[in-house]
Amino acid sequence: MTFAEPDGPLDPRGIPQEFVDTPGLYVHIPFCSRLCPFCPYNKVLFHPRAASDYMSRLRREISWYGNLGPFTSLYVGGGTPTLAWKDLEFLSDLPVAGERAIEVLPSHMTPTMAQRLDGIGFDSVSLGVQSFHDSVLRHLQRPNTAAQNLRAVPVARETFACVDVDLIFDVAYDDPSILLGDLATAFSMGVDQVSTYPLMRFGYTPFGKAHHDRRAEHRLLAQAADLAEGYGYRRSSVWTFLRRDGQVYSSITRPYYLGLGAGAASFTGSSFLVNHFGLPQYEAAVDADHPPVALRAQLPPAAAAAYRIFWQAYTGAVTPGGDKLMSHLVARSAVATALALGWAQGDQQRGVELTRAGYDHFHDAERWVTYHLIEPLWEQMMAEHNRGRCPTHQGPAGQVTGTRSRWRSQAGSMDSGVTTSSSTATSP
Ligand SMILES: C[S@@+](CC[C@H](N)C(=O)[O-])C[C@H]1O[C@@H](n2cnc3c(N)ncnc32)[C@H](O)[C@@H]1O
Ligand code: SF4
Repeated sequence: MTFAEPDGPLDPRGIPQEFVDTPGLYVHIPFCSRLCPFCPYNKVLFHPRAASDYMSRLRREISWYGNLGPFTSLYVGGGTPTLAWKDLEFLSDLPVAGERAIEVLPSHMTPTMAQRLDGIGFDSVSLGVQSFHDSVLRHLQRPNTAAQNLRAVPVARETFACVDVDLIFDVAYDDPSILLGDLATAFSMGVDQVSTYPLMRFGYTPFGKAHHDRRAEHRLLAQAADLAEGYGYRRSSVWTFLRRDGQVYSSITRPYYLGLGAGAASFTGSSFLVNHFGLPQYEAAVDADHPPVALRAQLPPAAAAAYRIFWQAYTGAVTPGGDKLMSHLVARSAVATALALGWAQGDQQRGVELTRAGYDHFHDAERWVTYHLIEPLWEQMMAEHNRGRCPTHQGPAGQVTGTRSRWRSQAGSMDSGVTTSSSTATSP
């Protein structure tokens, strides 16, 4: 896969035509009042003026795509979107067929904020709890405490149809009982979904790189799956557990998505588009009436099918459907191989589910993708934060080539001191 700068400024009217089917909408708000040292996403310190300038450009960018809706879903992520809650009111007018979800820092989940978000039309929230143990929160240098996390969950449950709790586990640091205890706490509070992310260590964050003990991670996730069963939850993806009667809440399993905002990415079915990460670059492009796309990669049908099956498998189940990428030979061969290796059970016609061994292999694959494809791309893109305002889409076409570049549907970019050039790929 090759990412390159677009040949010239893009026309907003061209992008909707590229989608093979209606996308979900992802909106990125890159402001935080404190920057967590482990966080690889696109974020900058909150400043009211900067946020208001950014939000006016975001409204303009969104206005170009009204005709593409109704979007299958809306997901507002960050950063800390609730820092700009007043500027999110315009989202209530967007045509959205499915869920309207937003990421919320637990210390922001007060009854007043819950009412505001409900008033804007959000029906799903993802709480960045990370742990109910203060020792873990201190290790992660989180802005929220265990007591705030415990208070946030019932407030969210009272207002929203779907509540997800994000947990992070770090086998290099935690005793296994910590994650299992955190899961038990979340399950006993009846949340709809719990996401358990292994701490990913991106080289450009202050946490830096570290070795993963993959077998310890497999063992812990298997214990988590057993615990979940006992509480009436089922594993609904490699890293999530869903209440048996709960609604699926996910930002990364939409087949096609339109990402708006600095650092957001889109997948049209045949190409990836990555927006500028730097706010000045993003804003300059929007001011010039051009989609703020910094890099794009065209995917041949086989690669698009491989991408599609990868994210479908992330959910732990692959069901045959009308989607032409899913019926591509590459997708069918991947399913046949997983069945032959014992990584999946079921059959091609009715659908397959990952076995425990399949989940372990997928866990390793997801980590590989994160470090080999996402991290180099984000590292390159985040270098935009170190440059000033610059003309958009000018200069020689930069490239990121090979298998070492990709992104996920959530946006990303960083704030730390990276010195890579914008026009050449670098690998850690
Ligand atoms: C985009 S973040 C932001 C959510 C929100 N700002 C907060 O901190 O509560 C969404 C989730 O990504 C996860 N996350 C962030 N950095 C991570 C890392 N280095 N490894 C694994 N998961 C991470 C966290 O669980 C977090 O809740
Ligand atoms: S984890 Fe959340 S609060 Fe912390 S820096 Fe990342 S986006 Fe901001």
